[in-house]
Amino acid sequence: MTKKGVFIIIEGLDGSGKTTQANLLAKKLSESFSVFFTAEPSHGKTGTYIRESCLYEEKRLPAASEALLFAADRIEHLENEVKPALAEGKVVICDRYLYSSLAYQGSAGLGTSWIKKINSYALKPDFGIFIDVPPEQVLERLRRRKKSVMETLEIQQKVRGIYLKFVENGELIKVDGNGPKDEVSSVLYSKILGFLEK
Ligand code: TYD
Repeated sequence: MTKKGVFIIIEGLDGSGKTTQANLLAKKLSESFSVFFTAEPSHGKTGTYIRESCLYEEKRLPAASEALLFAADRIEHLENEVKPALAEGKVVICDRYLYSSLAYQGSAGLGTSWIKKINSYALKPDFGIFIDVPPEQVLERLRRRKKSVMETLEIQQKVRGIYLKFVENGELIKVDGNGPKDEVSSVLYSKILGFLEK
């Protein structure tokens, strides 16, 4: 299966507005491109298991088990959904990807090299975005939404710190998510459009 499309991933803390932004981006891009919007954990067998069985505080598994499940879901998602869409020439927008494993499972104490190793089948994205919002603000947003918040400020800071390392080494491009939804969306859209039209 040859890849003809473009693989874009959107990362960020829970409550950073990443899903809203990924959705808005997909909508705007679909005016000019054929877009496939997707997310991890996926809706495949492993992703469904993850959503139903480990994302609640009382059901959490050891960090390494979760990392292996996320990696297994990623392979299933790539093979069944992402690669076929890319082969059809689509612009694939994926809400969370490998960097979520590096940041979240990494913040739980697992080493980057091991996480990379178990994800060695993960296709390299063409463009990776990190929507950056200060952890204090993210927690405030989550509390306002009355969403149960598993992460403490300390964990959020650790997760953000790992994401920022990938911004520093150029694997992710940072977009400031700390502003009105439409403004963040325009910045994100122009960055992606600039890349697609290159
Ligand atoms: P999230 O994007 O919040 O899904 P939804 O918006 O559908 O609730 O992802 C759920 C959680 O999964 C989030 O807290 C981050 C976590 N996660 C990891 O820890 N590692 C991963 O590799 C992925 C993809 C997600």
